[in-house]
Amino acid sequence: MLSTRSRSLTASNSSGSLGEFNVDYSLTNKLLGRGSFGQVVQAFSSSSGQKRAVKMISLVGKGGARRLQDAKREAEVLRSAGKHKNCVSLLRSYQETTHHIMVMEKCRCSLLDALGWILHSSHTSFLQAVEGMTRGLAHVHGRGIVHRDLKPENFLLGGSDGCTVKLCDFGLADFAPSWGQLLQGTCGTLAYMSPEMASGQGHTLSTDLWSLGATIYLLVFGDIPVRPSNFNCRKAMKIALAIGYPAPAFAYASDRLQRRPVEVVELVVRFLQRSSSLRCSAAHALRTPPFGCIAKRLQSLLCCGSQNASQSPSPTLTKLASVEIGKKKVSARTPPPCRPASQITLPAQVREIPGFQRTTVVQL
Ligand SMILES: Nc1ncnc2c1ncn2[C@@H]1O[C@H](COP(=O)(O)OP(=O)(O)O)[C@@H](O)[C@H]1O
Ligand SMILES: [Mg+2]
Repeated sequence: MLSTRSRSLTASNSSGSLGEFNVDYSLTNKLLGRGSFGQVVQAFSSSSGQKRAVKMISLVGKGGARRLQDAKREAEVLRSAGKHKNCVSLLRSYQETTHHIMVMEKCRCSLLDALGWILHSSHTSFLQAVEGMTRGLAHVHGRGIVHRDLKPENFLLGGSDGCTVKLCDFGLADFAPSWGQLLQGTCGTLAYMSPEMASGQGHTLSTDLWSLGATIYLLVFGDIPVRPSNFNCRKAMKIALAIGYPAPAFAYASDRLQRRPVEVVELVVRFLQRSSSLRCSAAHALRTPPFGCIAKRLQSLLCCGSQNASQSPSPTLTKLASVEIGKKKVSARTPPPCRPASQITLPAQVREIPGFQRTTVVQL
């Protein structure tokens, strides 16, 4: 475990903004995550003492100019996403000779780190997580942003309750083109990639809907949706996605996983449509089951209970209703259960998923 001693960034050619960062924040040695071109480290704000997450992209060496351009673009897109409960907030960005630095609100861990908890969580906690993911995506789509790399590593758990889902990592994001136009190129992670992206046919906002469906699929079934026999081979994955074979099996990877309500599985089906025009938008999904109807269903159960004077609604139902009906009541959220690590079992398939080997499974 790395120590959390504070340290300063030093640069061979110290510029004004680097000095500014060192005045505003003190970096620690605590690594929060590692990405393709940099790392995310914990820091403390000098003015408030609050913890922050600092994403540092190294600009040294080959390709530095390109990385700077990409990092500036990432900050620009994240800034234009604005503030939303289900998107990580960018507080400031700095640029100096050796690094591009983005200071963000600090979250606890990623959904991939918390996979053990998610797979075994109660339906209420599970639905709250899925709703947070869908709300985050609906928000950025509302701002015309295509994320292009939705996957469990890029959803974080944070906020005041520590379990609010927040969309992060806008490193591959772009602005959606005007109606009828498509973005070109292939980017993202094959395990969660849409068929049109994998086959390079051009893509727009709807590519994210497939990736959201693939991410929820993993959280439900404990496996990725499209798994050819040699799924570690990029070419095999691309072909499988392009031709639609093997199709998602919708089968639980282990008998020990929670069976989720049919509405959740139906939601995944609506996102995992091969034809991008048939996919349900994130905003529409939020108005339909399993989200839209749960509050109504609980409300009607509560009404039935109160009509019968001898039968008051059960405390559990009342608690659920206060969470689900009054969606603003964040404090009423059911905290995730604490489970000893020995009780958390992960299906064997999960361990083979690209990226999983790099994560530390945390128990919340
Ligand atoms: N705001 C944050 N709070 C806590 N951890 C974070 C934060 N942002 C990123 N991380 C961690 O760092 C990892 C890499 O960050 P990310 O922005 O996804 O970089 P990359 O583009 O290199 O994938 C994430 O998967 C997560 O584990
Ligand atoms: Mg990432």
